Formats: sequence, C-alpha cells, structure tokens
Amino acid sequence: MPLPCDTEIVDGSLLLRPWRSDDAGALEAAVVESIDSLGRWLPWCRAGYDLAAARDWVRRCEQGWADGEHFAFGIFDPTRQRLLGSVGLNQRNPLHRSANLGYWVRQSEQRRGVATKAVRLAARFGFRHLGLQRIEVVALPDNQASRRTAERAGARFEAIARHRILDHGQPKDAAVYALVPGDLEPA
Ligand SMILES: CC(C)(COP(=O)(O)OP(=O)(O)OC[C@H]1O[C@@H](n2cnc3c(N)ncnc32)[C@H](O)[C@@H]1OP(=O)(O)O)[C@@H](O)C(=O)NCCC(=O)NCCS
Repeated sequence: MPLPCDTEIVDGSLLLRPWRSDDAGALEAAVVESIDSLGRWLPWCRAGYDLAAARDWVRRCEQGWADGEHFAFGIFDPTRQRLLGSVGLNQRNPLHRSANLGYWVRQSEQRRGVATKAVRLAARFGFRHLGLQRIEVVALPDNQASRRTAERAGARFEAIARHRILDHGQPKDAAVYALVPGDLEPA
C-alpha cells in the first residue's frame, strides 16, 4: 500500500519530507551551486541543470511515492526551511525486502554531519515503515565522502563488487555497504 506523500521526519536539526512541486526553484539553486562537488559522482549534476530538470525530478519523486517504489526526501533545516540536500530509498525489492539508499548534500552545507544524520533517519524510516530488512549503499571506491558517510551512519562494508554500477556510462566496480535494522540501535 503506498505511503502518504505528506510523511515528515523531524529530528532536532533536520527535517526530511517528500519533494513538493514548490521545491523546484530551491532544488535548482542547490544543484547549480554544487556542480563541483556533486558532478563527479552524480552524472545528472552538470552545467545546464535548470528549473525544468528540477521540476522533472520532483514529478518523478511524487510518482515514486505514489507507486510505492521510490521514497525520496528533501533534507531541510527546520528553522530556516533551507534545502540542504536529498536522501532516498530506491530500487526497492519486495521479494527480499531490501532497497538502495542514495544521498547528496549541497556544497555549502557539506561536512557538518547532515548526510550522516539524514542517512540514519531515512534508513530508520525504511525499516519501520517499509518493512525493509536490508538497505544498501553503493559507492565508487574512491568516493571517500560517500563511503565515510555510510560508515559513520552505521553501515558495514561488505565487498568491492565487480561492475556493480555504471559511472558516466562505464561499468565500474563499487564498494557495497549495508545496514540491517540492528545497526541503528541504540539511536
Ligand atoms: C557524500 C556526501 C553526501 C557527504 O555529505 P556531508 O553532509 O558532507 O557528510 P557528513 O558531514 O555527514 O560527513 C560524513 C563523513 O564523511 C566525511 N567526509 C565528508 N566529506 C568528505 C570529503 N570530501 N572527503 C573525505 N571525507 C569526507 C566526514 O569527515 C565524515 O567522516 P568523519 O566523521 O569520520 O570525519 C557529500 O559529500 C556529497 O553530496 N557528495 C556528492 C554526492 C555523492 O557522492 N553521493 C553519494 C553517492 S553513492
């Protein structure tokens, strides 16, 4: 059964909520400021990213929630309502109750613990509300920021998996981390 699109997670310094159509302008601004640090790892983040691309992302996220397949949250500062980044559960596998977790944080807000907290909040949502029993984080081996974030959030390194992801169209080996529910306790 699909979850409501008004799901909100508030935890002290962060607010996670599904993307809304009126977020598109803030999303465009966050991506445009972050091309230097995100573009190497996220192929869609490149010069020319515009409001139409942001609107398209929000539309696809709304559809993902409606279909019960992709659960993408914007990460916000609850006091300033400023967009900090994104975290989401995708590639949901109902048979094995697993999913993949992806994230990014806008350049001006990096290295303040945002991703670590957001990963834990999104993973807890996945275990409690989607019934997941395994959440994977997959990163290119030299993406130290992503790997360290997974580790800080409590995920365990499992393997370098061959040809696990396409990076700018090329098959690449990748570091696979996983969280299972017990990894998040105690909170
Ligand atoms: C990965 C990313 C989300 C981290 O966001 P963040 O909010 O800066 O992360 P945190 O502040 O929670 O830091 C988590 C850990 O990563 C480390 N870290 C963050 N940025 C780093 C960098 N550029 N190089 C090395 N380590 C880094 C932090 O020091 C911290 O580790 P520590 O506690 O041992 O010091 C951010 O760098 C980003 O958006 N990168 C581009 C997108 C991306 O690669 N997404 C993941 C795809 S798999």
